[in-house]
Amino acid sequence: MIDVISVSKRYLNHVALENLSFSVEKNDILGIVGKSGSGKTTLLKLLNLVEKPTSGQILIDGKTTDQLSKTQLSHYKAKIGVVFQHYNLLANKTVAQNIALPLTLVGQKNSKKVAELLNFVGMSEKENAYPAELSGGEKQRVAIARALVRQPEILLCDEATSSLDEDNTAAILRLLKDSHQAFGITIFFVSHDLDAVQKLCNRVLVLEKGRVLGEVNNTPELLSESESSYLDKVRRRMVE
Ligand SMILES: Nc1ncnc2c1ncn2[C@@H]1O[C@H](COP(=O)(O)OP(=O)(O)O)[C@@H](O)[C@H]1O
Ligand SMILES: [Mg+2]
Repeated sequence: MIDVISVSKRYLNHVALENLSFSVEKNDILGIVGKSGSGKTTLLKLLNLVEKPTSGQILIDGKTTDQLSKTQLSHYKAKIGVVFQHYNLLANKTVAQNIALPLTLVGQKNSKKVAELLNFVGMSEKENAYPAELSGGEKQRVAIARALVRQPEILLCDEATSSLDEDNTAAILRLLKDSHQAFGITIFFVSHDLDAVQKLCNRVLVLEKGRVLGEVNNTPELLSESESSYLDKVRRRMVE
């Protein structure tokens, strides 16, 4: 579905990504891990078409992004949702307005879709609240609903759980997993939190200094809410 072929990205003479090659299938939840500065965010920017590779190609369904017409490009961009570490919600808009924003910006309105997503992320009761009135976990639920509102095929998550505590992280990981299952979305999950990556991703790409060190397969072990009571959690951690 997406093929990254010998992609490099330089900023002046600084090399952010060097000769990256990998493929992603529709059903993948790909973890991208690496230390700070290893090129994770840059890679997401290339996939999101915010930045262009200095060399190499990104193929989408077999076509290079250079070959796409303007209409096809905006079509591709509409297929991508993005979730950030710091939520990036608009402070002067309510929860429902924030979720509707990607539609509003292209002159569309779909109250039914917004209501459906409010329900999907468990925020229906707070639809009229403002971001300042929400916890971090709630803000990220809203940000995920906003990312899903144009029914994307790809979700790019940049450190989406990195500002959250353990319980909220688990809840957001479940929500991402549910989104993957419910809407068949391909997920790129950038994180430095190996625990979160292990719970969610079926493959992991390891970056170091802009290069791929290797790819590792994984069997994700995301526990359901009922299995992760506080007592169970303490039991799993402790060694008798
Ligand atoms: N716009 C930019 N201009 C110059 N250098 C950049 C720019 N964006 C990122 N870099 C550099 O590219 C490297 C990779 O950055 P980044 O992709 O943000 O890493 P990560 O997300 O893994 O922490 C870093 O050395 C960073 O300083
Ligand atoms: Mg980053």
